[in-house]
Amino acid sequence: MTLLPHWEETPADLGAATREIKAALRDRIAASGRTVEEVFAVVEKRVQAAVDDISSARRDGRPVWPEIEYSDIAAGTVPAAQLDLLRRRGCLVVRGHFERSQALEWERGIVDYVESNHFFENYRGPGDDFFGSVGSRPEIYPIYWSPAQMQARQSSRMASVQAFLNGQWKHTSDDGEQWFDPGRDSLYPDRIRRRPEGADSAGLGTHLDPGTLDLWMTSAFQQAFRHLFDGTVEQYDPWDAAHRTAGPQYPGSTMCSVFRTFQGWTALSDMDHDQGVLHTVPIPEAMAYLMLRPLLPDVPDDDMCGVTVNQVFPAGHKWHAPLMEALSGIPDVRAGDSVWWHCDMIHSVAPVEAQKGWGNVMYIPAAPWCPRNEAYAASVREAFLSGESPSDFPAEHYERDWPNRFRPGGLNEIGRRGLGLAN
Ligand SMILES: [Fe+2]
Repeated sequence: MTLLPHWEETPADLGAATREIKAALRDRIAASGRTVEEVFAVVEKRVQAAVDDISSARRDGRPVWPEIEYSDIAAGTVPAAQLDLLRRRGCLVVRGHFERSQALEWERGIVDYVESNHFFENYRGPGDDFFGSVGSRPEIYPIYWSPAQMQARQSSRMASVQAFLNGQWKHTSDDGEQWFDPGRDSLYPDRIRRRPEGADSAGLGTHLDPGTLDLWMTSAFQQAFRHLFDGTVEQYDPWDAAHRTAGPQYPGSTMCSVFRTFQGWTALSDMDHDQGVLHTVPIPEAMAYLMLRPLLPDVPDDDMCGVTVNQVFPAGHKWHAPLMEALSGIPDVRAGDSVWWHCDMIHSVAPVEAQKGWGNVMYIPAAPWCPRNEAYAASVREAFLSGESPSDFPAEHYERDWPNRFRPGGLNEIGRRGLGLAN
């Protein structure tokens, strides 16, 4: 099979590179003896079956989002039917991941942390245009190193849920190559969100976060998505980590350098399902649809259905209408529950007016130890020691001089391993 053209760094001429890769991918599919339309139809049928299943669950009043008790994860007693639903939907609410009292204590700890350091007086506005903000106070706090966040990241309860979620992926190839270590997380530092009672929020449109044009244009991702383009589309497995854990990613002002099996957050307040909460298109294999859709003839040759660098990957009615039918919100959650979704899945945050109650979360994903995450951990260690913003995020560095941030002496074994300070 001929090699695909590939760009290991952002191409200088995005339009030209897009035309070139689309032609090459179409040629490769044709060389397999199938047409793009035929391959896309296979994916469309598979995805439509999932959409129909979600619609019928909704009609029958069955929950779309799987819910699993933390105690079952810890004891290894998750019922088979729930495991099956997790694999089909690619998302999960972990009930009682933390004691409610622990989550509320962390919430108070964060308030104390930002107030004692005069964060609101010093806040300079959003450092990126990824998320809107309400008034002069932020919704997303660019805060990474509070004791609460670090305690949650290095807790054994977090580690056991991350290991369980990582274990849903195929992490070792049939020939024995291990793509990641499911039992060790890389402690990816992310921000917090605190949306106050009474807030109006425009929400966040449907998008996905695993990458942008690099998904089609780098050699590693071309191998990861090989089945979509080489005539074996039936073998595409959204849970296979092969070739996903070492390759480069095109840079952006807010990006994710690491490989995450699941994106996730832990609730620090109770949130009702109609108060501007997270939604997903809970179909992991929809990624095949998103990857193949630009190759159909109704999309201009220099257009990847709107995907470009340094902006999130948009999904929407224009190119992905059948998928949007399945958009499903989380159920009511309580402080201490956590919410997770497969790293390739479309998600959004619903708008809300005059929100009832607070909407507070700590973003903590599952980012297992692998070459890509190990490389990023080196810059995380530096940011941790100096109190800076991690390099995936805008360089706001609020916490550098905050005396009560989490310190190295507070690390336990999970924390040290996560930062690459122990093996
Ligand atoms: Fe996102």
